[in-house]
Amino acid sequence: MRIGWALLMTVMVMASTTAEQEPQLLRLMPWPESVKTVPGSGRLIVGNSFSVSVSAGGANPQLRRAVAIFLDDLRRHTGSLPLDFAFAETGKGQLQISVDRASKQVQELGEDESYSLEVTASAAILKAPSTLGAMRGLQTFLQLAQITPQGFSVPTLVIQDKPRFPWRGLMIDSSRHFTPIDVVKRNLDGMAAVKLNVFHWHLSDNQGFRVESRRFPKLHEMGSDGLYYTQEQVREIVSYARDRGIRVVPEFDMPGHSTSWFVGYPDLASGPGPYSIERKWGVFDPAMDPTRESTYKFLDEFIGEMAKLFSDEFFHIGGDEVNGKQWDANARIQQFMHSHSMKNNADLQAYFNERVQKIVAKHGKIMEGWDEILHPDLQKSIVIQSWRGQKSLADAAQQGYRGLLSSGYYLDHMDPASAHYAVDPFTGPTAGLSDTDKQKILGGEACMWAEYVSPENIDSRIWPRMAAIAERLWSPQNVTDVDSMYARIDKINSWLDAYGLTHNTARMLMLKRTADAEEVSSLHTLADAVVPVGIDGRYDLPSVKPTALTPMNRLVDAAAPETVKGRQFAALVDAFVSGKIKPGMEAEIRSTLTQWRDNDIHFRALAENSALLQEALPVSRDLSALGQAGLEALDYLDRAEKAPEDWKTQQLALTQAAMQPKAEVVLIVAAPIQKLIQASAGEAPTNLPLPKSAD
Ligand code: ACM
Repeated sequence: MRIGWALLMTVMVMASTTAEQEPQLLRLMPWPESVKTVPGSGRLIVGNSFSVSVSAGGANPQLRRAVAIFLDDLRRHTGSLPLDFAFAETGKGQLQISVDRASKQVQELGEDESYSLEVTASAAILKAPSTLGAMRGLQTFLQLAQITPQGFSVPTLVIQDKPRFPWRGLMIDSSRHFTPIDVVKRNLDGMAAVKLNVFHWHLSDNQGFRVESRRFPKLHEMGSDGLYYTQEQVREIVSYARDRGIRVVPEFDMPGHSTSWFVGYPDLASGPGPYSIERKWGVFDPAMDPTRESTYKFLDEFIGEMAKLFSDEFFHIGGDEVNGKQWDANARIQQFMHSHSMKNNADLQAYFNERVQKIVAKHGKIMEGWDEILHPDLQKSIVIQSWRGQKSLADAAQQGYRGLLSSGYYLDHMDPASAHYAVDPFTGPTAGLSDTDKQKILGGEACMWAEYVSPENIDSRIWPRMAAIAERLWSPQNVTDVDSMYARIDKINSWLDAYGLTHNTARMLMLKRTADAEEVSSLHTLADAVVPVGIDGRYDLPSVKPTALTPMNRLVDAAAPETVKGRQFAALVDAFVSGKIKPGMEAEIRSTLTQWRDNDIHFRALAENSALLQEALPVSRDLSALGQAGLEALDYLDRAEKAPEDWKTQQLALTQAAMQPKAEVVLIVAAPIQKLIQASAGEAPTNLPLPKSAD
């Protein structure tokens, strides 16, 4: 059964009993496996006397902590002070939780996360086999507690829910730019809110080694600019994540992406030092020396230390993007390869991976790596994370390896939520896998590579798009309706603010700072019409290549990867040019176009005082011209007069030029305006009804 928009409409519930009230969309993301509403049966009020009971069987300390966290979240979501929230006797209270058993002390892959939630006007009953399922159900309850004319309340309904995939993750790269502890914590809160269960922590790369090592202190002392996590902080994060049902998988990238290790320990490298922390981006030559026993002795001691610090059973060794140049240039390494009958660098890396896998296993862990590590010599227990396409995921599964999908979930590409939502671990090359091979695909992870993120704007690159990926990995495969996803993500977007995530608030602050003015509405109008270019454009476009030291205080850094305004305008124009015209539609399009046309004069006044805004002057000029072009197109349509050929050619050239990135942002609204111009010239989509009759 396809859970499309139509079905979703049937589960819209009345916000109040008054007939004129708009139906309220269920604010749920990820969408549960099954939702049945009970229309007309009222709502459960979440008021001052709200109380919670926990069944005796499940009253383990884990669950008590989970409920305490839930109540804290509920207070923040509702703005309530800690009033009468209290544990009631079993079977009493407005929220009755019953759990059969505690989850594992150290959370494991594949633990039961299922739950059921039944809400009547008098109580909500949450049942789960284990604490982990109760945590997921509590988040569902939180999402449903919405403000209504009667106060905060939850609709009456019955939910049965469980995840589609057991591995649903977010990777954060804390090496390219350091992620302070509070930023990690608020993102863990956001992850728990959308039922993600793996935080993959990319802790070392060329640009920084981010964990304190007591055994090899020069790693963090010389490789981090002082920006690293103490072991105490790591334990704090692991425990914070555990309390929210999230595993923490550390990644120490090797043998490439490892310059920061060599600053303190140059003997690990395959080429002569000295080394310094890399400030640029890309793939670099330094790589560990796989031929020396001293390398494995070092890794044995290092991995042994880290294996104790990180309790999860998986240990990620990276393994991506080794260019092999240091190996090619080293006569001793070449001699080693020759004497071991290795044909190429891939064989040498496979040898390294085999040795490292034994070390990882010796310390009680299962090795994970990016898809480059896939090699028939490696043990079948390892997990392959596919970043180079679904084919490598299918190949891994067919060769008997478990795998995860990250290709298509790269948040730094700045694609819209809909693009990520369309990527499924079981489409494309993986669709044809046998059922047994499909079992090997554990789920997926979104990747937040940090070349162009700061603690200030990282949340805006993760949220709310992460919620769409979380839904893809949790909800049934047939939950694919993009309109429904956007309707709900728009609600979840501001709901996530209560977790202290700054994806909405930071943009405001950053824009204000660029202008140093109180009244910045023209800047907001411009920012709403643009999106930042993705990681490739950030590097390729500027004449001076950015580095780790480049400030991130420009329009491109503040602009969101997707704007509600841009999306809604595109949808409005699509409906308009395809003849699905509703009253008021043209007026709305006109009003937006007029605002854009007239924005430039106000923006110019702001930019006069700001070196940071001046680069955006051409973008603002383009937006003004686009507004004018769109209005002229509407005028032709209104007069039912086909736009002249030379006007059309000129305007299309203008939209094409406006679509080119400037100041590393793209005017996302140029494409719909192009459609208006085409429509006014009688080009597809054709058969426009007379627009005059629309308003
Ligand atoms: C990767 O993006 N190099 C894993």
